[in-house]
Amino acid sequence: MTTDVTRVSGRSSFWWGAATAAYQVEGAVDEDGRGTSIWDTFCAEPGRIADGSSGAVACDSYHRWREDLDLLQGVGATAYRFSVAWPRIQPSGSGPVNQAGLDYYDRLVDGLLERGIAPFVTLFHWDLPQALQDDGGWTSRDTAHRFAAYATVVAEALGDRVACWGTLNEPFVHMALGHAFGTHAPGQTLLMEAFPVGHHQLLAHGLAAQALRTASSAPVMLVDNLTPVRAASSSEADLAATAVYDALHNRMFLDPVLRGRYPEALTALAEPVVQEGDLATIAQPLDLLGVNYYNPTVVQAPGADNPLPFELVPLTGVSTTGFGWPVVPEGLTELLVGLRDTYDEALPPVVVTENGCSYPDEPGPDGTIDDPDRIAYLDSHIRAVGTAREAGVDVRGYLTWSLLDNFEWADGYQQRFGVTYVDFATGERTPKASYAWLRDRIAQGW
Ligand code: NOJ
Repeated sequence: MTTDVTRVSGRSSFWWGAATAAYQVEGAVDEDGRGTSIWDTFCAEPGRIADGSSGAVACDSYHRWREDLDLLQGVGATAYRFSVAWPRIQPSGSGPVNQAGLDYYDRLVDGLLERGIAPFVTLFHWDLPQALQDDGGWTSRDTAHRFAAYATVVAEALGDRVACWGTLNEPFVHMALGHAFGTHAPGQTLLMEAFPVGHHQLLAHGLAAQALRTASSAPVMLVDNLTPVRAASSSEADLAATAVYDALHNRMFLDPVLRGRYPEALTALAEPVVQEGDLATIAQPLDLLGVNYYNPTVVQAPGADNPLPFELVPLTGVSTTGFGWPVVPEGLTELLVGLRDTYDEALPPVVVTENGCSYPDEPGPDGTIDDPDRIAYLDSHIRAVGTAREAGVDVRGYLTWSLLDNFEWADGYQQRFGVTYVDFATGERTPKASYAWLRDRIAQGW
């Protein structure tokens, strides 16, 4: 039986707020018994991170969390999505629990509730304990079972106060960047052979959903990175490549969860990996679907020397963020309406769990940070959510990425996504103009 999601509607019937992730903001990687994660290892390898940095200090949220929560309260957030670092809870990925690690999240959850903010807890945002990686990481089926055990530990500690659980963050991105192309930890370059990493994450999601429901009555969601895919031309080859890319990026992580089967295009990849009962486990009823949206993707047929069944091409003719990502707000409406049209009754209510942009923000002479491009981005994308709602899509929340400038994975500290500026030399936080804009937008409601 699924949980009544209205119980977490809090102060308003729509969740407004922001998201972060443990490795991107916490720092304190050697404190209070935290174990090593694959991101600590990856960052220590020369050439992996653009500016040679790591999340060792990041925003120092492990110590400055009260300031972060005050910022959330100041912006009028009704929800905060953060992640728990598995290596803080189980330093070696299984077995003994590190109470000091749990205590940090205990304080964070209580601090949120004191400020009237619903804690949305992601259990895995890419920082796998290194000890599990040494045993095969997500290429090993056993990691799914280890994840369910970890989920039980966290649910038993925090489940009485958490408003919503997110099992995994963006399993596609973790599979693709971490295991197919190697630009993220753990740096594997398995190309299409990374498929089991996706399947084992899905299995982990299903097993953890069961574990969470046993230990807690809070709703459960999966957080997917989704993208509307567009063919570069109407040629048969481009259309075929586009369908394959859609199957890999979007449907691989939606069809098994919402329909209990892989898309047909992936049958050959799935058959050797899927065991009896897996799909039933993966297809646990979901209370909410978390959607992370950044931009659409344009696909063409692969060139002769491309080992992949698709090729991505830049989307031109629109403005781009500091990261060079195309700004296409109507893609968010297209995505949300498309989800409803494709999955119909099987689609649970949706929360936009990430949406935002990086720009090279710096304080002006008076110390203020004017970020009009971010304001325009947020405004147009929130409007796009409104259009989807008017079209009847049940969207329950909008959480921007991110509350703070933070460690942007392989790009280090070079991409600033926050509505709050962080001086990484001092840790000082300064709300940008977009923070004030978001506060007013939240106050306005729908
Ligand atoms: C999605 C990821 O969940 C988050 O960790 C990342 O920083 C943002 N996208 C921006 O790239």
